[in-house]
Amino acid sequence: MEPNLLLPLTMAILMIIAAAATVTADYIRPPPRKTLHFPWDPKPSSLPQQVHISLAGDKHLRISWITGDKSSPSVVEYGTSPGSYSSRAKGESTSYKYLLYSSGKIHHTVIGPLEHGTIYFYRCGGQGPEFQLKTPPSQLPVTFAVAGDMGQTGWTKSTLDHIDQCKYDVHMLPGDLAYADYFQRRWDTFGELVQPLASGRPWMVTEGNHEEENIPLFKDGFQSYNARWKMPFEESGSSSNLYYSFEVAGVHVIMLGSFADYDEYSDQYSWLKADLSKVDRDRTPWLLVLFHVPWYNTNYAHQGEGDRMMAAMEPLLYAAGVDIMLAGHVHAYERSKRVYSGKSDPCGAVHITIGDGGNKEGLAQKYKSPSPEWSIFREASFGHGELKMINSTHAFWSWHRNDDDEPVRSDQVWITSLVSSGCVAEKSHELRKILMAP
Ligand SMILES: [Fe+2]
Repeated sequence: MEPNLLLPLTMAILMIIAAAATVTADYIRPPPRKTLHFPWDPKPSSLPQQVHISLAGDKHLRISWITGDKSSPSVVEYGTSPGSYSSRAKGESTSYKYLLYSSGKIHHTVIGPLEHGTIYFYRCGGQGPEFQLKTPPSQLPVTFAVAGDMGQTGWTKSTLDHIDQCKYDVHMLPGDLAYADYFQRRWDTFGELVQPLASGRPWMVTEGNHEEENIPLFKDGFQSYNARWKMPFEESGSSSNLYYSFEVAGVHVIMLGSFADYDEYSDQYSWLKADLSKVDRDRTPWLLVLFHVPWYNTNYAHQGEGDRMMAAMEPLLYAAGVDIMLAGHVHAYERSKRVYSGKSDPCGAVHITIGDGGNKEGLAQKYKSPSPEWSIFREASFGHGELKMINSTHAFWSWHRNDDDEPVRSDQVWITSLVSSGCVAEKSHELRKILMAP
């Protein structure tokens, strides 16, 4: 070989080796982690356990907890200074039996009116430890943490640790909480696992398939879920805990039920129309929707399972100008462009699949290829999302992989509201027509 060719050839070979090294040194996906072990640890039967809180109408929160003692009162004492409770509220309680299992006494007590953006100290059942919560702000900005398909594995713990490090006002969970799957004690261990976070910030959840524990002709499918995770369905005019809405700062959030009837003659659809007719985009410029089974999903896992619900509800939600739809079910992360009817559409919703909370079933790693034009980012890793609604026109979404430090954003995007882009005004006539239809 000519000496003057030797140097460029050597350089080219070195560059190819370097490039190959970069590819092989690329992100190595860690394996699934084991289900956490919860040692049998009997507590005094009157001790409040599994404490979690949720929004319950304007300026009100629902405090939920469980005691072994059936005579323990459903009372919450609260105030803005530690150890000094200026207010007291009494609530309701329930319990259930599931084959050989008997639940503790499940208490739900609504407290308020509360000041916005304020730290409160509270105690459940007149005894036990003091908890601390922060109410959401009255106006934008407001920040949501989002993760679905949580389960209770080492990865769930990692996700919770990450969420704990971020500053957020409300946690939203688009289905699949405990992965109890008929083993009722797993509902209790999940309640214990999430208490440190869920007792301090409202946790707003909707149901996934793992909440359904149906025994035909014998047990209603969502008995345990409904008894333990009571959401503000009555406060939002719904007749079912499986779908409801809430408002926080300048955001109207609709939690739909993938596992309740959703066709246009269903109770859920009628409720959705009624709920949308009450939305005032001057007061709540942002409109979000959460449900479990994704409509825009390029993963082979659960492919097409959301199609029927999408066919029934997407035209109505499009006319209503929904900004962002968040789903779980697929154990991976995916974000779309604004999309409607299977194509990019500037007035459609951004769809985000965030079923990556850390469940025992592991990650869904196979994607359809090529990726459709509307799919922007997809990756099978555990993590959580943060959605910061900055003002009436801009929101910032970021996705945080558990393998990185919390501040590292593996995906991020600024989202402009449909109110500010004129889509909501443009479609208001179409929406009125659908809402007026019998
Ligand atoms: Fe699921």
